[in-house]
Amino acid sequence: MGKKMWHHCRLSLFAIFLWISSATSQDFNDCSFDVAGDTVSSCNLIMNTTIFGVIPWMTGKGDGAYFIGGPPVDNSGSAAGGYAFTSTTDMFMATSFHKKSWMLTGFVTNSTGATGRCLSFAYAMDGLSLSSFKIVLISYKQDPEEIYENGTFTGPIQTQNTVIWTQRDLTGGKWKPAKLTFTAPGAYSIAFAAEPNFQYERNRGYVAVDDIKFTDGPCGNECLFDSNTCSWENDEGSDDFNWSIGRSSSKRGTGPSRDQASSLDVAITTGGYAFIDSGYPRRTGDTARLVSSVLNTTSKPLCIKFWLNMHGGGVGDIRLLYASDNNPNVTQEIWKLWKDDGTTSFGTDSWYPCQQTVSSDDLFRLTFEASVGFPGAGDIALDTITFAEGSCPSVPPGSNTGWGDCNFLHGTCGWELPHKDTGSCSMLERVAESAYDPPGHTWNDLDIVDMYIKFDLGCYINQARDKAVLKSKLFTIDAPQCMSFWVFMTTTLATQTKFGALSVVLNTGAGKKNIIWRLQNEQQAGWTYAQVPVAPGTGMTVTIEGTKGPNLIGMIGVDDIAVYTSDCQVEPPQARVENADCTFDDGFCQYTIRNPDQGTDAPTSNWRFAYGDTLNVLRDHTFEADFGGFVFIDSVNTDLKSQLRSPKLSKNVTYCFTFYYASFYSDSGAVLSVFRYVNERSELLWRANQAIIPARPAEDQQVKWYYGQIALEDQATEFEVYIEGQVRVGGWAIDDIKLFTDVTECELRPPAASPVRF
Ligand SMILES: *[C@@H]1O[C@H](CO)[C@@H](O)[C@H](O)[C@H]1NC(C)=O
Ligand SMILES: *[C@@H]1O[C@H](CO)[C@@H](O)[C@H](O)[C@H]1NC(C)=O
Ligand SMILES: *[C@@H]1O[C@H](CO)[C@@H](O)[C@H](O)[C@H]1NC(C)=O
Ligand SMILES: *[C@@H]1O[C@H](CO)[C@@H](O)[C@H](O)[C@H]1NC(C)=O
Ligand SMILES: *[C@@H]1O[C@H](CO)[C@@H](O)[C@H](O)[C@H]1NC(C)=O
Ligand SMILES: *[C@@H]1O[C@H](CO)[C@@H](O)[C@H](O)[C@H]1NC(C)=O
Ligand SMILES: *[C@@H]1O[C@H](CO)[C@@H](O)[C@H](O)[C@H]1NC(C)=O
Repeated sequence: MGKKMWHHCRLSLFAIFLWISSATSQDFNDCSFDVAGDTVSSCNLIMNTTIFGVIPWMTGKGDGAYFIGGPPVDNSGSAAGGYAFTSTTDMFMATSFHKKSWMLTGFVTNSTGATGRCLSFAYAMDGLSLSSFKIVLISYKQDPEEIYENGTFTGPIQTQNTVIWTQRDLTGGKWKPAKLTFTAPGAYSIAFAAEPNFQYERNRGYVAVDDIKFTDGPCGNECLFDSNTCSWENDEGSDDFNWSIGRSSSKRGTGPSRDQASSLDVAITTGGYAFIDSGYPRRTGDTARLVSSVLNTTSKPLCIKFWLNMHGGGVGDIRLLYASDNNPNVTQEIWKLWKDDGTTSFGTDSWYPCQQTVSSDDLFRLTFEASVGFPGAGDIALDTITFAEGSCPSVPPGSNTGWGDCNFLHGTCGWELPHKDTGSCSMLERVAESAYDPPGHTWNDLDIVDMYIKFDLGCYINQARDKAVLKSKLFTIDAPQCMSFWVFMTTTLATQTKFGALSVVLNTGAGKKNIIWRLQNEQQAGWTYAQVPVAPGTGMTVTIEGTKGPNLIGMIGVDDIAVYTSDCQVEPPQARVENADCTFDDGFCQYTIRNPDQGTDAPTSNWRFAYGDTLNVLRDHTFEADFGGFVFIDSVNTDLKSQLRSPKLSKNVTYCFTFYYASFYSDSGAVLSVFRYVNERSELLWRANQAIIPARPAEDQQVKWYYGQIALEDQATEFEVYIEGQVRVGGWAIDDIKLFTDVTECELRPPAASPVRF
């Protein structure tokens, strides 16, 4: 054997050794799907789940994803890293009883104990054809050792399956962290379960999982209260008595008969819960506080979820309080349920799901404060505290004193819908899923029919650019807030892409309207997350406005609005609006006429808003709809010049200024110019005439829109831009002015509009 050969041989021996050792050290309790050679470790997870009547998952890598599916990288960002995944294509083709797929941990002989275990993992979901991704707790009704051999089940199996976590929001292929606390009284397995959406059988879709880890005890600050209060502690000092742990109320007419988890499924052994005992020696108004450990700052908001049982005719109030660790003695009420709020049927022995968004720039603590109503007649109980990443509307409705939270499940939470005439369609309604309308976004544990807000773009009584407005309560805020919500925009006519727009408008005092968020003509694969910052101010409202395109079939859905104190960036990024943006749907936005040549008594000599049939040689650019929706200047036989002036643009910001322009009627003297106006000095940036663009490409064609683009480098002071139209026997039109601040390239377009030529 030559020296080289030997070297090669030693390397491969080494590789085999590595493969064996990593394959054995990778266990489902701590699994990152390590790769050795071409093999991805399956961590002793059970991929062959045919015995459960479902199809298997498989292991994969990013660099194989193009052909077999799955995300392009693993959770560490590596294309060579491994993960487990399942594709909807396999589910649709399956001959198994259920067209869904499972991946299973081997069975675990020991119970989790009363404090439970924490399962954490990363997941990525993409594709319209995916309906949901769930975690299922499988409890065995027989001794699983009898049917489990060498890592496979030999069946037949009798199990009790409980869904303990559900996700429906696609991540666009990006990895997201997830964690959940669970308890199991005996031997169990955990299944990673995916279900397809049969409406989209021709689309691809997948769920992938990486970095699975099981640890003893609850996740972080979660608590199931089965044996103790976990990391939550009874306050010492500022209250009157303590929360206790209960398993089943021993009193008539108050307290829960079972804990929360077992109340949903009586096959589950009942666990514990926390409660306040309102019996002797308690008096009306006594409070008990349960305080969290110190919680970390939140880079993204958190949703705290918990369950309450308010059994008894004399229950008091319960509040969730926030306190910054910098100022621990100052608590702020962020959520409250009180006896007379009328939204929940108090008094019965039922567990109610509750939730609230929490966001904090400081370390902080949360406190549950319950008070005694009528002594002995109202033991408030609390169970199953969990935390999820992301904002959530307050539940039950009205439990948060803010102006915006709503999941539209039971009503509109103070958001005002326009009056609907009976018998006709309405452009704006609260609807449930139907044959025509997709399901809403709200996930609820009680199987209540979900409802959401729908802008119907197909209502026959409306015309293009008609608007419908959903209006918030009046509010005053002294710190920036973030309004988050979910949007669904869709049209069923593939040929008509310009079908409508959704805007969020901040209406400040004195009738001033600022569009702060807008998405238009954008089809989406399901519900999409959106957020927009709301600046402090007094006496304001927010309106959510749907604008109709000329299309006859389409809808815009809005659901799950949550408002919380925090400064945030606009999401999705393309919904960002600059104050000088204008689509000229119903007027000039913040544009004005500068230095009108002909004086105010001759308004038709200046830039004008096109509506109805004021100018019908041209459809607007925004929606390709007839009857106006842009601004124009024209002349029959007089030299006219008029300037359209932008609102002030910020100093120290580099903009890319873009717009659409059109020229109609032959006019050799027609000139369109764009100037920047800084410190009372005008500077020509862009100029076009009919030598650059034809008035009308051919006599029988529609007038065409052309695209213009100008880079505006940053200035030391605020400045304006104005567009000057000059005509004699022709005309100019302008539409869809949009400014971008985050672009690296912004060449002058068309190049022939360079002012150097003139
Ligand atoms: C999966 O397991 C079943 C028995 O449970 C077996 O019949 C089948 O051959 C296995 N399939 C694969 C691909 O290993
Ligand atoms: C399971 O329980 C047994 C006995 O209670 C204990 O010895 C063993 O360490 C436990 N195994 C695990 C993985 O916790
Ligand atoms: C399990 O492994 C043992 C020993 O390797 C073997 O005798 C037995 O047949 C295997 N059982 C099954 C169901 O594969
Ligand atoms: C209430 O709980 C605190 C903290 O655990 C404890 O110090 C105190 O003794 C308890 N009070 C009563 C009356 O049990
Ligand atoms: C708290 O958050 C910071 C920033 O996100 C992070 O670096 C740190 O590890 C977190 N601390 C804990 C205890 O989780
Ligand atoms: C908070 O209140 C306690 C008791 O009233 C007091 O001892 C402590 O100094 C206060 N802490 C701060 C930061 O004010
Ligand atoms: C403008 O930007 C520069 C560099 O980005 C920065 O140093 C300066 O402080 C900014 N000025 C103002 C007034 O924001």
